[in-house]
Amino acid sequence: MPATVVVGTQWGDEGKGKLTDLLAGSMDMVVRYQGGHNAGHTVVVDGESFALQLVPSGVLYPHITPVIGNGVVVDPGVLLAELDVLSAKGVDVSRMLVSGNAHLIMPYHQELDRVTERFLGKNSLGTTRRGIGPAYADKATRVGLRVQDLSDAKIFRQKLEVALKEKNGVLAKVYNRLPLSADEICDRYLGEYAPRLAPMVGDAVTAVHQALESGRNVLLEGAQATFLDVDHGTYPFVTSSNPTAGGACTGTGVGPRAIGDVIGIAKAYVTRVGAGPFPTECLDDIGDLLVERGHEFGTNTGRRRRCGWFDAVMLRQAVRLNSLSEVALTKLDVLDAFDTVRVCVAYEAGGERLEHPLFHQSALHQATPVYEELPGWKTDLTAVTDVAEMPPAACSYIEFLADQIGVPIRLVGVGPGREQFVRFAA
Ligand code: GDP
Ligand code: IMO
Ligand code: MG
Repeated sequence: MPATVVVGTQWGDEGKGKLTDLLAGSMDMVVRYQGGHNAGHTVVVDGESFALQLVPSGVLYPHITPVIGNGVVVDPGVLLAELDVLSAKGVDVSRMLVSGNAHLIMPYHQELDRVTERFLGKNSLGTTRRGIGPAYADKATRVGLRVQDLSDAKIFRQKLEVALKEKNGVLAKVYNRLPLSADEICDRYLGEYAPRLAPMVGDAVTAVHQALESGRNVLLEGAQATFLDVDHGTYPFVTSSNPTAGGACTGTGVGPRAIGDVIGIAKAYVTRVGAGPFPTECLDDIGDLLVERGHEFGTNTGRRRRCGWFDAVMLRQAVRLNSLSEVALTKLDVLDAFDTVRVCVAYEAGGERLEHPLFHQSALHQATPVYEELPGWKTDLTAVTDVAEMPPAACSYIEFLADQIGVPIRLVGVGPGREQFVRFAA
């Protein structure tokens, strides 16, 4: 069986948690492939909300094996706390598997994320300050510690001391911070975390391949999104990993020919947290209304999300970058209150009309959106369960978007609940 990928197509928070949870009903394994606890994936079941950061969003089903792939950066304290919260809510987390090749987020990563953001001042990226960038940087410069290192105290300490010598130098000399103690880190990571994590740590690559070879359904769950991708996003206002579908291959050890459907997830409008270009951003009462109706505050940082109209130019690019087979649209209900709704169908930059974004970042900063305006539906969609109950104007909006982006839209979210998805035949 080929694996299915769920990938964010905008700047995050599109509803990957909700979609993954929905699809997990017919899956056997859900694997997170990149990112760390910068992610906040919300799943709402029977009115109860679960905010997941590291644990794959399929965890709520007893039949799912949740896996953290090698491409993820893991803060073990956060992971264990998240598992404790889930257990306390009655979720069985005993099948959890964590790749021994995933990298660890260390205390100095978080500290460096905080001080570098402060140091950048008005040029800061608005990171989640969770240590994500510094952890991936250490992976690339080959001084990172991995989950498997927790099983060998001698190796862990050796690697830690090498890394800490440099990190403490930077923290003290560049940022005027106090040095971190190897003993304290060892006490916490080896004394507290290692014994609890040990039963979950294993060879995730083999587990995923065995599942695929035995015909099981495997879902690869992305965090962040296409335009936060370190290669294809709005660099430098991006995260430090590859949320695009290619990252699902490297982050789990599955080759491209083992991937089947790639489902992109998009909000019916656009949001962004943190700094960076955003051509359709609404800095007026429309933006405020989207924030208010969509409850657009970060799942785990609480930050207000910037809001704007749906951007079909971005989505066309996301279709290309991820080989999307379809798009699932969420939060259509948030647009219920508008008399008319707008869709950005092209950009205008340097006197030219662009159907796809220009590769040069400056062009994106200068791009002005070309909008088409469609009638609103002014109807509460949250109780709609069938396409036959959808107001014609809402159907037209969805058809217009699908036509603009060139792939079908088959699932449309009309509320946060697990069951609040309407299926369109397309
Ligand atoms: P993720 O990071 O992509 O998993 O998305 P988040 O969980 O950070 O943010 C999406 C938010 O929208 C969450 O609060 C969800 O409960 C909520 N949500 C998801 N789908 C819908 C929908 O169709 N309608 C409404 N009103 N809320 C939704
Ligand atoms: P989910 O998976 C929205 C943003 C941060 C910042 C930039 C870099 O819930 O969609 P980082 O801490 O990763 O170095 O921050 O990326 N960011 C997200 N925005 N949703 C997320 O995750 C995000 N994860 C990171 O706000 O702009
Ligand atoms: Mg989120």
